[in-house]
Formats: sequence, structure tokens, C-alpha cells
Amino acid sequence: MKPLSVLAAFISALIPFSSAQSSSSGSPCSAPSSKGFRMKHGFETVLVQPFGCDGFRVRAWPFKPPAGNEISFLYDPPLEGFENGKAHGMSFDTTSTGNTSVELRNGKILMRTIGGTYQYNTSLAFYRVEDDGSESLLLNEYSPTKSKNPRYYEWNGPGSEFYAEFAWTSDPTEQIYGTGQQQDHMVNKKGQTIDLLNFNSYIPTPMFMSNRGYGFVWNSAAEGRMEFGPFRTRITSDASSVVDYVILTADKGDYDGLQQKLSAVTGRAPTPPDWSLGYLHSKLRYENQTEILLLANNFKKYQIPVSLIVIDYQSWAHQGDWGLDPGLWPNVSYMAEQVKKITGAEMMASLWPSVEDASENYLYMQANGLLSATRSGPGTTDSWNGSYIRNYDATNPEAREFLWNTLKRNYFDKGIKNFWIDQADGGALGEAWENNGQDSYIESLPYALPDVLYHTGTQKSTGKLYPWAHQQAIEEGQRNATDTKPGSACEYLSLSRSGYIGSQRFCSMIWSGDTTAVWNTLALQVSAGLSMAATGMGWWTLDAGGFQSDPTVSWSNNIDEPQYRELYVRWQQWSTFLPFMRNHGSRACNHLHAFTCDNEPWTYGAQNTPIIKSYIEMRYALHDYVKAVFAQFSKSGRMIMRPLYMDFETTDSKISNMVRTNTNATTQQYMFGPRLLVTPVTLPGKKEWDVYLPQTKNGNGTKPWTYWWTNQTYAGGQTVTVPAPLEHIPLFHLGSRGDVVSGNVF
Ligand SMILES: *[C@@H]1O[C@H](CO)[C@@H](O)[C@H](O)[C@H]1NC(C)=O
Ligand SMILES: *[C@@H]1O[C@H](CO)[C@@H](O)[C@H](O)[C@H]1NC(C)=O
Ligand SMILES: *[C@@H]1O[C@H](CO)[C@@H](O)[C@H](O)[C@H]1NC(C)=O
Ligand SMILES: *[C@@H]1O[C@H](CO)[C@@H](O)[C@H](O)[C@H]1NC(C)=O
Ligand SMILES: *[C@@H]1O[C@H](CO)[C@@H](O)[C@H](O)[C@H]1NC(C)=O
Ligand SMILES: *[C@@H]1O[C@H](CO)[C@@H](O)[C@H](O)[C@H]1NC(C)=O
Ligand SMILES: *[C@@H]1O[C@H](CO)[C@@H](O)[C@H](O)[C@H]1NC(C)=O
Ligand SMILES: *[C@@H]1O[C@H](CO)[C@@H](O)[C@H](O)[C@H]1NC(C)=O
Ligand SMILES: *[C@@H]1O[C@H](CO)[C@@H](O)[C@H](O)[C@H]1NC(C)=O
Repeated sequence: MKPLSVLAAFISALIPFSSAQSSSSGSPCSAPSSKGFRMKHGFETVLVQPFGCDGFRVRAWPFKPPAGNEISFLYDPPLEGFENGKAHGMSFDTTSTGNTSVELRNGKILMRTIGGTYQYNTSLAFYRVEDDGSESLLLNEYSPTKSKNPRYYEWNGPGSEFYAEFAWTSDPTEQIYGTGQQQDHMVNKKGQTIDLLNFNSYIPTPMFMSNRGYGFVWNSAAEGRMEFGPFRTRITSDASSVVDYVILTADKGDYDGLQQKLSAVTGRAPTPPDWSLGYLHSKLRYENQTEILLLANNFKKYQIPVSLIVIDYQSWAHQGDWGLDPGLWPNVSYMAEQVKKITGAEMMASLWPSVEDASENYLYMQANGLLSATRSGPGTTDSWNGSYIRNYDATNPEAREFLWNTLKRNYFDKGIKNFWIDQADGGALGEAWENNGQDSYIESLPYALPDVLYHTGTQKSTGKLYPWAHQQAIEEGQRNATDTKPGSACEYLSLSRSGYIGSQRFCSMIWSGDTTAVWNTLALQVSAGLSMAATGMGWWTLDAGGFQSDPTVSWSNNIDEPQYRELYVRWQQWSTFLPFMRNHGSRACNHLHAFTCDNEPWTYGAQNTPIIKSYIEMRYALHDYVKAVFAQFSKSGRMIMRPLYMDFETTDSKISNMVRTNTNATTQQYMFGPRLLVTPVTLPGKKEWDVYLPQTKNGNGTKPWTYWWTNQTYAGGQTVTVPAPLEHIPLFHLGSRGDVVSGNVF
């Protein structure tokens, strides 16, 4: 079967966004060989459909057929592909009982089952068809004899939902990139086992790229597990009514091509508002209107630019009021107006999903079924500071609308138009322990999380939807209020602690959660961000300086201690080269025995203020570059933070091996956009730092890398030691600095 290239070229001309493919992936999408293939054998049915560009969508179920309207994170039809605006639904035109060999082709990807007359082999195998016609194996189902079937089901509950385990063959050299956010120092996830359970600072997401040249999406809202063993990749789902996944391919090494195709099926980011590319300031916590106005005046006094000022939690009278306590915030519109006038900044306020029974909204929400409950009976999902709480049910459209209407009345209409959806992880409040602040709390889970009940189902079957739906609530509300369409440029934003497959389609940043203020945690955030990028969630940020003290480190988070000041400066300078530059934390200090000490740029010692200020100014100086990088991400899914394999796997023969073993160069260095190589200093007391400079395309015999601070140039393919005094983050650029600063880089 040859790709129908002439027809494909004609069709692709009709498809929006197709021009965006030129820079990254090779050929345009080709016509598939069939509408779909249904294999029905025994109790099981498997449906395989061509999907998007060079991809397939597979659905499988035992016994009871799915209704076809199950929760899905996929666009049907995808944004790009051969579909030309037509949804696939459950359509197919080829059938088999599994006893015949069947082949399906969609552009570069081929699916084949073996069949056979004696013992049917119903395994699915996927190949990439190379330009010379040869086939490269991408993934085939793991089916040695005397083992569980690669598509395995169990019924553990009283209903018809099943537990599923799907397995594929792998080998120790396969490399896996993505899977959301963990705190594990791994860019290559091979060997890792990841629970599909959301916690503060963990955003496990079953979507990844392989160095074999495929992208994979496990399209399920269920909790479960991902296992990347040496010879077997296995994904499980705790409770489902259908198994649903997408596999798609691009030429080996073409990760931009994979991201383009993945984002075309899961979510393409809009463009962020210009203001959000500046410095975003926050701390735990400004307690009242007077403090915020003082803060704005101080930014002016120190002549430090700021683009967002944030009000953290406990600014409400009761949880679930979704409004500021009027005793502390007497005139919100006046405050927002003054902040704008003094600094030009927007404002953002925190909200928690929890509603306590003393809240003015509790009874209405309870009576109207807008709160989640638990399978075991009472409504408690968690507790906080002694109060009984239940989370609003983000999966219920009526609850989302109620939440938004409340936020609009109390904040948006008064000038606070951006929302920080904290504790958004779902289940309880996203912690492994109860939030009561007991001294001896439980730090990890010895038993199951509360099995919460939602509009869409149980925590086990649909819990992974919760943060996504919570982001959706703010997105829909802001879209409604600004009369703009999904996908169009964002005027305002949310900031979320979690997300899920494709949530980059919303005007929503994700930050890495409540991190500890120690060096190792700083280092861990680099690989966390790179994995989020490879999962498609490019709008990533963190708490510069770390969020909370590590109780075992005396100086941790203490703004008066020199050790912490050094860590803060290193972390803050790194944040200049993240998609969003954001400062937040629950700081300690010596004069107050408290955790709400100062966190402003001028509070880390007189000698550090100019350094901190210089990076904030640098961020504004790089505005055009950052904007261009975001625009490209929006257009084609081209990643903003770029692990070294993205750009150099094919030009530098050392990279693949370095990534395989997760060497520091590949877990702590990355390209920020196409031109800047960023290497944060992650150890104290350093005056110089080693950086691996990759071999670039056509780089042999030239010195393509320029050190930002000295203008010295270097050849690629070597590790260099550069001066890195506290005021200088190791930063290299490709091409001219003028092009970087003007954003003339694509
Ligand atoms: C496959 O099974 C179907 C239905 O049982 C039967 O009609 C068909 O002849 C079989 N084909 C082969 C090649 O065995
Ligand atoms: C089934 O076919 C696949 C190739 O698609 C092969 O790798 C596997 O070994 C076969 N399984 C059995 C049990 O024959
Ligand atoms: C605002 O908070 C500050 C710091 O806690 C406090 O000193 C001040 O009295 C408060 N002002 C008002 C008006 O509540
Ligand atoms: C808020 O402040 C503005 C400007 O000073 C004033 O006009 C308005 O009446 C105030 N509103 C309230 C509710 O105090
Ligand atoms: C708990 O609530 C009380 C009053 O409701 C408040 O004074 C206190 O600061 C709160 N403590 C925490 C840890 O939130
Ligand atoms: C946005 O508007 C649509 C159409 O009126 C409505 O269905 C939806 O509930 C609104 N969303 C929110 C969060 O208010
Ligand atoms: C660079 O030159 C070396 C030695 O001549 C050669 O082995 C290597 O393949 C070249 N690399 C590239 C990317 O051209
Ligand atoms: C990698 O980085 C970590 C944290 O910065 C450091 O502890 C470790 O020594 C480094 N390892 C190597 C091989 O440089
Ligand atoms: C490096 O070059 C840039 C222009 O590209 C210039 O602005 C800067 O001052 C130079 N830095 C040094 C240390 O020479």
C-alpha cells in the first residue's frame, strides 16, 4: 500500500494548521487504507481506527460494548490529519474474528495482526513504514505463551466496570519521555513505575514519546499504573468500561513531528497574554488590602517591574465562599485599580475546591448536588484546620458554572481576573495525609485514598479528570466573560497545581507544586519540567526559591540565612528561563517565628537585590523571544523547554547514551526555545560549572555556542567549564544575540 501522496497534498491544503508542519515533520498526512477495523473474537472486541496524522486509535472492551460517549481527552476528529473535519465515532469498514491476518495503514504507520488458523494470534503490532518501504517495529503486544494475555481484564467490583492491564514488548535500550510530572531526576523514564494517582507535586499522565519514534496516549480518566520494565511496558486502569489509546509515529529523531501530531489529537495551546510573560509575584501570604497596596508601592519604589500580584489562601471568611473576606479586603475594585495604576500589574487570587459547612455556598451546593461525596457514606473528603469540608464537583458542568458565577461576582467583575486553582489534584485535597496540621501526620499512603464519588463516576474510574475539569471551569468562565473562543489568544489565566492529557488547550499554567527549599529539590525540578514539556504541558512554572522549609535543614527557606539566600538567587535566576517566571513561597525569617515572612525581590540581602533585579529585567528584555517561542508552541506544539534529545539526538552521537542513563547533562540542561541553552547551578558555593555543549547540525569545525556573559565561542560535542559566579547562570546562545533578543528565531 503506497501513500496516496497527490491526494494527500490536495487534502492537506484544506486542513487548517497544515502549514505549521513545514518546519518539523516530513510529509503531509496521507489517506488511510480503511475507515477502521473491528476484531470480534470470543468475549472481546477490538476497534482500530486510523487517527490523525500517521496514527491509530485503538479501543478494546470485554462483553458490554461502550456507549461511545465515554470521557475522552482526544479531539475527534483531530486538528490535523486526513479526517477533514469528520469525526470517527465508532466507525469501521473491515472486520475479522481474529483468525485472519489484517493490515491497516495510515500514512507512515502500519498495524498488523497475525491471525492463524489453529491458535488465533490476535496481538496487534505497529510499525513505521520507512521511505525505502522497510518496516521498523514500534510496539507490539507482549504475548509470550503461558502468560497473561496482553489485553487482560478483571472484574473486582460489584458493577460492570473492569480492571484492565495492557502490555507491550520493549527492550532495555528503549527510552521513554514524558509521563507528566514526577520528582525522580529522570528524563528517560525507562525502568520507572508510576502510579496514576495525583498528589501535590506529582502529575502522572499516561502520555509519552519513545526514541523508537512513536507517541502514545492512554486515553483514560481512571487511576492505575504505568510500568516501564526492561522487556515489558504495561499500563493498568483500575476501573473502566473501555480501554482506549492512541499510537502515532514520526521519523526516528523527529520529536517535533511527534509533538505536532500528539498535540493535534490531545490539545494545542492558545497564546498567553503579553503581560504574563513578565515577572509573576506571589508569597504565602499577603493578608489584607493594606499590605497589597504597600507591596505595589514598594515595587515602584525599588523600580522593579511586575506583571502579576497574587493573593494566597485564607483570604476568605470560609472555605468555599469563593470571595475575599470583606473585613480584610474592604474595597476590592479600588485595590485592583490602584495596583494597576501603580505597577501596571494584573491580579490573581487563590481558590480552593473545598467547601466547609459554614460557607455561605454550602447548603445550596449540597441541595443541588454540586459537591462530591464518598462511596463509604458521609461527605467528608478531607479536613483542614478542624473544619469539615467537601470538594466542589468539578466534573459536573452545573458545579463549574456555579463556581464561575461566584468568582465572577466576587473577583472578576471587581478587577481580579486571574485565578489560582490550588489543591486542584482531586480525590481529597491532593495530599497523602489529612490536612489537619497534626504534628505526626502521615506523609505517604498506607491505604487507599477516599473513593470519592463524582458526577462522572468514582475516583478510581474518573478521578484523573478532576484537575482537568477544574481548569476547564476557569477556562469556560473566562471565555464566557471575555466573549472569546477556545483556542484563541488568552486575555487572562489560571494557575493550577495539576492537569491532565491535553489540558494545555486551556489558558492555564501548571506549577510544580509545594517543593522544599533545598538544593536537591531545585535539581529535581529541571527533569520535572522537561517531562511535563514532553507530555505536551508546556505552560509550566514553579515556586522560585522553593515553597516550604525542609524541617531537617536549619536554614531552609529562611531569608535571613546566607545559605538560603544563595539557593534563592540560583533558583530565581533559573526561573527567568522557564515558560513563566514566577516567585512564590512560605518563607521563614529570624525576627518572626513564622512562615509568612517577606518574599519580595529586595528581601534577600542588599548584595543580592541587584542580581535578582537584573534577572527580572532580563526577562522583560527577552519578551520578544519568549513570545515567539510561545507562538510556535501554539501553532505546532513545538516544545518550549527542550530536553537535549529533542534537538541533538540526530546530530550528536553521544546524546542518546547520555539520555539513556539520565546523566546530569541531560536531566539538568535544556534548550529554552531554539537558541538558549540553560544550565541552572544546582549546588552551593560554586564559582564555575560544567556544561555539555551538544554537537549541532553543520556544527563540525565551527564554534556555534556563545557564552552569554563573556561572548566566548565554543565548539559542540564537548563538556566545558565556564565561570559561574552567583550573578551568572550558565547560559549559551546559538546564532546572534540580536536575533535572540528580537525574537527573530524561527
Ligand atoms: C475465520 O472465521 C470465520 C468465522 O468463524 C470463518 O467464516 C472464516 O472462514 C475463517 N477464516 C479463516 C481464514 O479461517
Ligand atoms: C503473536 O504475533 C506477534 C507478532 O505480531 C508475535 O510477536 C508473537 O510472538 C505472537 N504470539 C504468539 C503466542 O504466537
Ligand atoms: C494588615 O496586615 C498586617 C500584617 O499582618 C497588619 O499589621 C495590619 O494591621 C493589617 N491591617 C489591616 C487594616 O487589617
Ligand atoms: C471603593 O473606593 C472607591 C474609590 O475610592 C470609592 O469610590 C468607592 O465608593 C469605594 N467602595 C466601597 C464599597 O467602599
Ligand atoms: C485555623 O483557623 C483559625 C480560626 O478559624 C485561625 O486563627 C488559624 O490561623 C488557622 N490555622 C491554620 C493553620 O490555618
Ligand atoms: C459558559 O457559557 C456556556 C454557554 O452559555 C454555558 O453552557 C457554560 O456553563 C458557561 N460556563 C461557565 C463556567 O460559566
Ligand atoms: C563531525 O566530524 C567527525 C570527525 O570528522 C565525524 O565523525 C562526525 O560524524 C561529524 N559530525 C557531524 C554531525 O557532522
Ligand atoms: C548531578 O547533580 C546532582 C545534584 O546537583 C549532584 O549531587 C551530583 O553530584 C551530580 N552528579 C554528577 C555526576 O555530576
Ligand atoms: C557580548 O556581545 C553583546 C552583543 O552581541 C554585547 O552587548 C555585550 O556587551 C558583549 N559582552 C561582552 C562581555 O563583551
